[in-house]
Amino acid sequence: MNSPPIRVVILISGRGSNMQAIIDQARGGQLPVTIEAVISNTPDAPGLARAREAGLRTHIIDDRDYPSRAAFEQALMEQIDRYAPHLLVLAGFMRILGKPLVNHYAGRMMNIHPSLLPAFPGLNTHARVLASGEKQHGASVHFVTPEVDGGPLIVQARVPVLDGDTEQVLAERVLEEEHRIYPLAVRWFAECRLQIKDGTVLLDGERRPEQGLSEQARTGTAQ
Ligand code: GRF
Repeated sequence: MNSPPIRVVILISGRGSNMQAIIDQARGGQLPVTIEAVISNTPDAPGLARAREAGLRTHIIDDRDYPSRAAFEQALMEQIDRYAPHLLVLAGFMRILGKPLVNHYAGRMMNIHPSLLPAFPGLNTHARVLASGEKQHGASVHFVTPEVDGGPLIVQARVPVLDGDTEQVLAERVLEEEHRIYPLAVRWFAECRLQIKDGTVLLDGERRPEQGLSEQARTGTAQ
């Protein structure tokens, strides 16, 4: 691994399993990043304990403590910018962010979403996929733009929807892929291999939509 480490700040609201996947790879030397801080908008997010356990600095910026979204986001930005991050990683961060903040981190803020965007933006994706009868589902990592779940796609992973799947079983199948593709996207960014051109993400100068898909996805078979 030759790239010098980049500074990363991670934003969470909940359990923090995607954050953990990034922490694990960073610690294992597979990711050229230093995680400067983990910030949660919910004081009781289980992910905070995981971050502390990993020896990371944590902050709570509770949106309920602020009179407006603008005031909350201003405080959030100030805290984030103390670490001058190259990359801001949203990992289960459950607040919709406004334009000033999104534009401030344009091209350096990523999110992971549990669906094959542009299909199923928003909440409750697993239940909605099951209800729709779709046979394929998955996860997407994308750069964040003011359009919610609408930013340029970096990498996606597909999983099959199988007969008898419950919401939980399907969520677990997707989550396993999330834990694979989010560190991958962070690594590509850290290695300066990503570029946004005309609203599309290029990897090593090329558009390679299949990159990062799992074997399961490529062959269309369940594991
Ligand atoms: C993940 O499914 C992610 O795609 C979505 O929220 C969930 C967060 O899970 N944005 P975790 O907190 O990373 O475990």
